[in-house]
Amino acid sequence: MPSESTPLETSDPLGSAAVASGVSADPLGVLRDASARAGEALALASRYLDPSLVDVLSILGFDEDYVTARGSYIYDANGRRYLDLHTGEGFASLGHNHPDVRETIEATLAAGLLDGVQIHYSALSGMLAEALTALLPDALDAVFFASTGAEAVDSAMKFARAATGRPRLISCDSSFHGVTLGPLSLVGDEFFKEGFGPLLPGCARVPFGDLDRLEAELRAGDVAAFIVEPIQGRMVTLPPEGYLKAAEQLCRRHGTLFVLDEIQTGLGRTGRWFALEHWGLEPDFVLVGKALSGGYMPVAAMVTSREIFQKAVGTLERSYVHQSTYGRNQLSMAAGLATLRVIERDGLLEHAQRVGDYLRAGLGELQQRHELLAEIRSSGLMVGIELRAPSSRVAKMNWRLIHLASEGLFPQLIVIPLHRDHGIVTMAAGKNDVIKLLPPLTLSETEAQEFLDALDAVLTESRGAGKNWGVVREIATTTLRRRARASLS
Ligand SMILES: Cc1ncc(COP(=O)(O)O)c(C=O)c1O
Repeated sequence: MPSESTPLETSDPLGSAAVASGVSADPLGVLRDASARAGEALALASRYLDPSLVDVLSILGFDEDYVTARGSYIYDANGRRYLDLHTGEGFASLGHNHPDVRETIEATLAAGLLDGVQIHYSALSGMLAEALTALLPDALDAVFFASTGAEAVDSAMKFARAATGRPRLISCDSSFHGVTLGPLSLVGDEFFKEGFGPLLPGCARVPFGDLDRLEAELRAGDVAAFIVEPIQGRMVTLPPEGYLKAAEQLCRRHGTLFVLDEIQTGLGRTGRWFALEHWGLEPDFVLVGKALSGGYMPVAAMVTSREIFQKAVGTLERSYVHQSTYGRNQLSMAAGLATLRVIERDGLLEHAQRVGDYLRAGLGELQQRHELLAEIRSSGLMVGIELRAPSSRVAKMNWRLIHLASEGLFPQLIVIPLHRDHGIVTMAAGKNDVIKLLPPLTLSETEAQEFLDALDAVLTESRGAGKNWGVVREIATTTLRRRARASLS
């Protein structure tokens, strides 16, 4: 059973962490220097990384000096703790810095294993592939390891084309599959694509849930794969009843491969190892990423059948055509195995389901009392809270102004005070009115209740033209002014 997170009592967490792990393990002074320069983090990011993102963080008040994290909490330089209900879009799904995964990684490092040599296969990579395939339908028994989710998606796009000899790929509106050029060609929101074209030829989209449109595309007989998230991550959109199984059958009938992108829904997020279990799906590919290393190492996987794998690259000549330098690195493989073992040992699937139900019931109760809550959508610990326009005249005017400025701004009415006043991290889900929660699978009921109480307070303060509107209205007004100035110049 997961234990509740204990607060970190320190005003210099990075320095203390370095000390705790033994300063002698920092022979080049890298951690020491990072600790000394912790206050410069955002200035460095502005100078060398992405100043626009730093600006966004500062406008929203997320520009705290966060330095360390443990379990469900992250900590800033002043020792204030924040309950993290987003976990980097679900990547730290065991909670931050899980001690058992860390020790496995440390032991792997200490073993001084051979790595990165293309002529070599480690037992760890074979074991992680074996463990993943054991959790999936029997037909899925061949694995390719990559470093990012986008790379796993890209791999499936390539393998599907090569295995079928067909050119076209179909995905869904409002989908998300990553931002490198291949996956971006599938993504269902134009916002991500602007300026980056031309994208891959042969990619088309259908509405999520629309079987007629899917069949119309498949009937042409030239579609290699239909790539779909079982639950769309951007707004936590659940599939209509029977949709995914029927889509799978349509794909079979038309010789199209059925690809499930479980990069967000996989590994316990929905209370099952994989979301496909909710509907008894038998896809041709399952894509895994994010949580696979327990939030430590970049690792992702494309899992398919041996037959498809061999058709795509299964000759001596083609055995090198699809590779990834860090794909099978030992630290990622060890972290992946440790993560699967923690989920199993600690009963995190059942736990995520139970705490997810608790959260959902609490949100349902809040929905009765707060008009801003339009809809709660969830599966296990994947939760979307859809907001709606308020009814009072003044608040509705503000709502319109905020939407005029930016489509994704309104949820900040709740997200900003949750963070600022209650130390709770949630996220606006994109260009829509949805707040998204992907808390650690280890979240306790007490922590879930901490969030529900805070949300209740914030929603109460947001009634009428209450105090929380000021900040968001200010951001909207500044955005509109800036836009007007830009259009004049
Ligand atoms: C469903 C889905 N697919 C693919 C990706 C891309 O993963 P990565 O950011 O590791 O490339 C994401 C990332 O959010 C995702 O949610």
